[in-house]
This record gives sequence, C-alpha cells and structure tokens, in this order.
Amino acid sequence: MKILYEGKAKILFDDGVPGTLIQHFKDSATAFNAEKKEEFEGKGFLNRAISEHLFTVLAAAGIPTHFVETIDGNRDRVRRVDIIPLEVVVRNRAAGSFVKRFGAPKNLPFVPPLFELYLKDDALGDPQISPEASFALSLATEEEIAQLKVFALTVNEVLTALFAKVGLLLADYKLEFGRTAPGEILLADEISPDTMRLWDPETMESFDKDLFREDKGDLLAGYREVLRRLEATL
Ligand SMILES: Nc1ncnc2c1ncn2[C@@H]1O[C@H](COP(=O)(O)OP(=O)(O)OP(=O)(O)O)[C@@H](O)[C@H]1O
Ligand SMILES: [Mg+2]
Repeated sequence: MKILYEGKAKILFDDGVPGTLIQHFKDSATAFNAEKKEEFEGKGFLNRAISEHLFTVLAAAGIPTHFVETIDGNRDRVRRVDIIPLEVVVRNRAAGSFVKRFGAPKNLPFVPPLFELYLKDDALGDPQISPEASFALSLATEEEIAQLKVFALTVNEVLTALFAKVGLLLADYKLEFGRTAPGEILLADEISPDTMRLWDPETMESFDKDLFREDKGDLLAGYREVLRRLEATL
C-alpha cells in the first residue's frame, strides 16, 4: 500500500480502491504545533471509534461525510477529497487560543456560536483568516464558505445535543472539509477528543486533548469515557 501522507495523528494510504483512501489513526499525541509529543497506546483506536460514531450520527442528520466503513481497530476507509485548506472552528464557549488572544474569560458562552476560519498552514502557525481573504486567495468560493458555515452550524446543533445527552459540554471543535472530483463538499478528516473540547458541565473537568496539552490528567481515561458514553446511546 502506498503512503500518500503521514501527518501528526494519521497516515493516509492508497490501496488502489478508486475514489477512496485508508485512514490510519496513530497513537501519537502532539500539541503546540508538535513541540510537545507523546505516545498513548490505544489512542488511535479510541479516536477512530469516536470519530466513526460522530460521522455516523452526522450522516444520519444529513451532513455529507467522507466516512465509508471501518476496516479494523485503527483504520477506516474514507472517500478521497481535495482538502479545502481552511480549518473551520465553531465555539460555544471561550477556551484555548480564543482566551489567549482576546483575553476572554474561559467558559464565556457564545450564543449564537462563533464560526471561524483558520488557514491550514503549519509553517505560518495556522493564522485566522476572514471569509473575504479566503475568496481573495482562491482557497474557497463565496458559495463554498456559505456552505461550510451551514454545515458547521448544523454539526453544532447535532453534536451539542448528542454530548448534552451524555453529560458533556461541547465547548469548541475544528472541522475540515474537502471536495470530491465532481465538486461535492464532504466533511472529512476526524472529529475526536483531539479536535474538540469536551467538559463536565459542573466541574469543568476536560475529556479531550487538553488533558495532555495542560498535563491535567489521564488522556486515555478521558477518551475511553467519551467512547463509553457515546456507545451507551446506541
Ligand atoms: N478524505 C480525505 N481525503 C484526503 N485527505 C484527507 C481526507 N481526510 C483528511 N485528510 C487529510 O489527511 C491528513 C490527516 O493527517 P493528520 O491529521 O495527521 O495531519 P496533521 O498532522 O494534522 O497535519 P495537516 O492537517 O496540517 O496536514 C490531513 O492533512 C487531512 O487534511
Ligand atoms: Mg490533523
């Protein structure tokens, strides 16, 4: 199998099945643009399983996604897309870089939620970008950005309700989208505790990668608990 791309959290393989790729979830955790790195045995499985669960719920709610099928513990098959080089971030509560950059109090609620775009470029440190600059740089058309916003906010309604049902507050998350050869936009990449912030609404305890970023506790225990609660909804 040909390795198409190896990133910080996943490896993409081309095994020759037309229009698809194999996505392998690694056990590595990285933070602060990969300055901090550690291996957690079983993290790849947990992220793959959580992501599968969320993509399945989102597909049922009408969001087109790249997920095709699970292959095994760490691997799934996805539809191959050209990734739109924008990270789409939705915030329900102030946290992370938003708190750092704007001095907002952590946990400040956003109603309606904030929709933000960041340029996917590690060398530039993934800077925030406006919709207008995204059109000007031909990263996406105006129609595509409008579509991303509709998808991102629909994802928010679905996932906010799902996590509330299992006693977790979805503070913020990052999505990636891509275009298929015929130009359809699909939700791609992963949605996992690596790419979301999930809090206990009372204690503010984290169940996401902040456990590792801020050395706040057992990353695997947090991720396992997220999967356990999601599976209990089936
Ligand atoms: N369906 C898909 N088709 C093609 N590429 C995809 C698809 N889904 C995700 N990707 C891309 O695969 C890569 C997954 O690797 P990983 O998440 O480890 O990357 P990363 O280290 O976060 O770096 P970056 O996202 O900046 O490339 C990402 O570049 C992501 O944009
Ligand atoms: Mg990634």
